[in-house]
Amino acid sequence: MQIAIIGAGRVGTTLGRRLAEAGHTVTYGARNPSDPKYAGVGAVAPIRDAAAAVDVVFLTTAWAGAEGALAVAGDLSGKVLVDATNPIGPGMVLTHGTTDSGAEQVARWAPGARVVKAFNSIGVEVMANPRFATGQSVLWLCGDDAAACDTVAGLGRDLGFEPVRLGPLARARFQEPAALTWITASATLGREFSWGILRR
Ligand SMILES: NC(=O)c1ccc[n+]([C@@H]2O[C@H](COP(=O)([O-])OP(=O)(O)OC[C@H]3O[C@@H](n4cnc5c(N)ncnc54)[C@H](OP(=O)(O)O)[C@@H]3O)[C@@H](O)[C@H]2O)c1
Repeated sequence: MQIAIIGAGRVGTTLGRRLAEAGHTVTYGARNPSDPKYAGVGAVAPIRDAAAAVDVVFLTTAWAGAEGALAVAGDLSGKVLVDATNPIGPGMVLTHGTTDSGAEQVARWAPGARVVKAFNSIGVEVMANPRFATGQSVLWLCGDDAAACDTVAGLGRDLGFEPVRLGPLARARFQEPAALTWITASATLGREFSWGILRR
């Protein structure tokens, strides 16, 4: 699959490296692609060029940069847009609360894109390796477009996750606070842990 990743930071390059290892073709979209810090990262292009050529776009920018990055990304209608960001503002609080979510805001900024919330509520260490002695990490995801969710669930399985669907995109109102739960728990547990399901 041809994939663009907007934001070549920790999340973007970790997911990009693993997606490339799984056989996908990854191009990063950056606002300054010639910056020497991208040496050795892989293919880096202007955001609009990276997004234009693919069917699946990951958004992995800082939340403060999400609106601006999407504004220069061009028309994303029809594309799967995987929102891995967290709308965290000063003081470690969510800027979008229980009656809205960052993912729904992303969908408003990218009209027509098939937005799926995923990869937001685990640390980069888990993205790098979602396999644990007791099983695979859960990948929470939600979105309004079933086929887009299928695509993202498949990409999650490619990376070694167990995808679990939470329902329509508005369920991001619960999935985004899970990121703060993970971050809070990491103060006690360290960063090599993840979400798992106990079943009867
Ligand atoms: N770190 C984690 O474990 C983790 C886990 C799950 C989700 N997340 C979420 O994932 C997102 C990225 O986190 P990160 O840890 O990867 O952060 P990071 O390493 O600081 O990377 C952020 C990236 O966003 C880019 N960016 C910022 N403003 C931009 C703009 N206006 N246009 C284009 N690109 C812009 C930066 O590019 P420049 O170099 O050009 O500034 C940088 O590549 C955040 O929303 C975070 O909450 C993080």
